[in-house]
Amino acid sequence: MDTRPIGVFDSGLGGLTCVKKLMDVLPGEDIIYLGDTGRVPYGGRSRETILKYARQDIAFLRRFDIKAVVAACGTVSTNGLEEIAGDYDIPVFGVADAAAAAAARLTKSGRVGLIGTKASIRSDAYDRKILALRPDTVIVKRACPLFVPLVEEGRIDPHDPVLRLVAEQYLAELRDARVDTLILGCTHYPLIARTVGEIMGPEVRLIDPGAETAQRLKTELARLDAGNPARRGQRRYYVTDSAEDFGRAASLFLEAHVEGDVKRVSLEEKTDE
Ligand code: DGL
Repeated sequence: MDTRPIGVFDSGLGGLTCVKKLMDVLPGEDIIYLGDTGRVPYGGRSRETILKYARQDIAFLRRFDIKAVVAACGTVSTNGLEEIAGDYDIPVFGVADAAAAAAARLTKSGRVGLIGTKASIRSDAYDRKILALRPDTVIVKRACPLFVPLVEEGRIDPHDPVLRLVAEQYLAELRDARVDTLILGCTHYPLIARTVGEIMGPEVRLIDPGAETAQRLKTELARLDAGNPARRGQRRYYVTDSAEDFGRAASLFLEAHVEGDVKRVSLEEKTDE
């Protein structure tokens, strides 16, 4: 047993889709979440900048005595996370491995769609991971750069006309390509899964990287005998911009009142905790 918290980070609200799944499958775990809201989105940035931000995010989380880090960010997970993971003495998980494994396992036709940020799609990391598991897979992919700003603006209602229009345009070629599985390759996207699902059609299975990663973490913590099963976990949230805005949105997404648990921090300075 290891009662230390798990550190989770993303550029903004997206990583909360992973936190929600972690709360479901590992309810006893304490979670410290960092949303780098002052610098969201990461997805249009260079690999060097993304890695620099990831290191700073992990350094912040390591000010607490955490037992593992989850990069609940598709962009970080596909842009060199594996290269820096070895620099830490605790396990560092990305979200792409578990999602790629789920896609390779679940596709029947072998035609897998992938949507993500520009940086994730450019990286080819998903292609490599899926093809290593299932070499005959055809991967059809599309960057969807407007989805993250729309989600951060709270435009997640399936009837939102702007979201609908943007999603129709982004997803048209994937629908035409007749994929049977679609990886929501950015952790913001499960928040608009209903819209994506309606456009893709009921026969297309959507893969949520945060959900797959939560399951993987559960297995891994059990294997390492590092779980914290005995109690109800606590969650604390840190952001690099307005705590109020984040708290309001996070409460909606997590279906829980988290406003009081959100603090604004600077990644350069030490916190008092
Ligand atoms: N939610 C993140 C991802 O999974 C970050 C998106 C962004 O900041 O552009 O890629």
